Amino acid sequence: MQIILMGFMGSGKSVFGRKLAKRLNLKFYDLDKYIEQKYKMSIPSIFNTFDETVFRNIETIELRKFISKTDFVLSCGGGTPCFNNNMELINNIGTSVYIELNAAALCDRLIKSKTKRPLIEGLSPKELQQKVDTLLSDRQKYYEQAKITISGINLKPETLIEIL
Ligand code: S3P
Repeated sequence: MQIILMGFMGSGKSVFGRKLAKRLNLKFYDLDKYIEQKYKMSIPSIFNTFDETVFRNIETIELRKFISKTDFVLSCGGGTPCFNNNMELINNIGTSVYIELNAAALCDRLIKSKTKRPLIEGLSPKELQQKVDTLLSDRQKYYEQAKITISGINLKPETLIEIL
């Protein structure tokens, strides 16, 4: 079984993915961590040293590797489904799951989060709100191509397992 978790930054993909993998006895991968380990660079330094396009190309190259793997839960980056035809690739890899949260809930979580995220770094709460609104509406059309959509509020592995 291959499960690919998608959703906006702050939607809880990694935390939920780890729990889900444990519950299903599957391997867990986090695409950002996978890239950081392989390239020995943090995501912010890939953005800073090169640019977003380089990061998106690396993301696609590494995502493609999952075509030949089996039995895992993979948590993608928030932008992964939205570049380089990755959504088609994701749906070929396995069961895609979109963890859905509205812009207000995402802003709330992102304000509290300590993870460094180059796309929203240094923004004021108002700027963050505007950025989340525009990015989320641009990305919605990709997220909606997931096979399953579940709410990110009080999300538990059982909720997804019941509908898998
Ligand atoms: C990104 C989300 C990040 C990371 C990168 C770009 C995005 O992952 O891949 O900073 O474009 O939304 P998380 O969704 O895990 O924060």
